Amino acid sequence: MSELVQKVRDVLPSVRADLEDLVRIESVWADPARRGEVQRSAEAVSKLFSEAGFGDVRIVSEGGAPAVIARHPAPPGAPTVLLYAHHDVQPEGDRGQWESAPFEPTERDGRLYGRGTADDKAGIATHLAAIRAFAGRPPVGVTVFVEGEEESGSPSLGALLAAHKELLAADVIVIADSDNWSTEQPSLTVSLRGLADCVVEVATLDHGLHSGMWGGVVPDALSALVRLLASLHDDEGNVAVAGLHEATAADVEFPAERVRADTGVLDGVTEIGSGSTAQRLWAKPAITVIGIDTTPIASASNTLIPRARAKVSMRVAPGGDAAAHLAALTSHLEAHAPWGAQVTVTPGDLGEPYAIDATGPVYDAARAAFREAWAAEPVDTGVGGSIPFIAEFAAAFPDAKILVTGVEDPNTQAHSINESLHLGVLERAATAETLLLEALGRS
Ligand code: BES
Ligand code: MN
Ligand code: MN
Repeated sequence: MSELVQKVRDVLPSVRADLEDLVRIESVWADPARRGEVQRSAEAVSKLFSEAGFGDVRIVSEGGAPAVIARHPAPPGAPTVLLYAHHDVQPEGDRGQWESAPFEPTERDGRLYGRGTADDKAGIATHLAAIRAFAGRPPVGVTVFVEGEEESGSPSLGALLAAHKELLAADVIVIADSDNWSTEQPSLTVSLRGLADCVVEVATLDHGLHSGMWGGVVPDALSALVRLLASLHDDEGNVAVAGLHEATAADVEFPAERVRADTGVLDGVTEIGSGSTAQRLWAKPAITVIGIDTTPIASASNTLIPRARAKVSMRVAPGGDAAAHLAALTSHLEAHAPWGAQVTVTPGDLGEPYAIDATGPVYDAARAAFREAWAAEPVDTGVGGSIPFIAEFAAAFPDAKILVTGVEDPNTQAHSINESLHLGVLERAATAETLLLEALGRS
């Protein structure tokens, strides 16, 4: 084993302990009551990188969540690598459904459970392990950038980039916030979908009506909304909105059994849409209804509901334009209202998709580092999820090579209950990143 790989092993217990402390901080930026926790989390991250040996560490914000920028200047002639992760996490959901408390990291069967153990505090841990393996002096310039509002769509990232462009400039950008093919085989993520969402409100009446007096003569808004939402897919489950973009997925065989195993789809429930799994997951648009506001059952009475709202979220295939997709969705919703119901669409968040041409020496070096660290061949994959900031970074630094790596695996359950990190994956990901920095220092 190389000396450097041994170093990563040596620092891993301390890194894991620091990761556990980060997980104990409830850094849910989406919850206004926990913004103090996000601040505490930024302070903890900045302390970790200061103590790891970086002289220039700051907490910055531009009207949004606090982000951490930590810098180690490039040795003469060496490139600068930006290491990205996010320290905010998704809300924990129903605490009662967690097997162990969401913010108390707990190990079971080689996995560390807790909100953010994987998405994406493990990304921070990976960068910390690499820096510690080099005793704070990596052979390349390193800028660690840990943002605090990724799970909210990174609304102030553009302003942060503009305000700190010189600090953040890099030759290579490593984004440790994605998935792996399995716990034994790494992925190099080569495409991500974008995102566009909106709230659609349907109104049919200017006030509620006794359903016995008027039911069957004038429509209730919830029935109208349900029909409108049903028009978003055809019978097979393909998206039925006109004018959306479709790309071509990375050429990877995605076993059918994996869909059932990885999702927990219930017996008898079929898959939706046509085309290969990889195509539907990574290269086709998808539409999901993610919330609805209407009369709850507990207060339901025999009344025609006058208005109802739903939040509709769309994934945009690589190469598509998020704003154009939102416009297409809006037109569809406005055109398909049943029974002349009034439809109002309020636009929500937009995030651009991104596809990477993963060829050339930097990608070759990354694959070699993966191969050595994992003792397995890396797989080029797409992902169905989104990291909107990648497109913004690529626009700001058009010459930088972007590597999307990660510490998740098919059983991570990011965003859901019982999120977990596979501890073997953390070690392999940290080893790969360390070897990559070393290789970039040599080149
Ligand atoms: N780490 C994910 C992105 C991701 C998802 C990578 C699936 C690989 C596989 C990230 O934290 C995330 O959840 N992104 C959001 C972005 C949104 C809030 C704009 C997403 O995809 O919903
Ligand atoms: Mn993430
Ligand atoms: Mn996430």
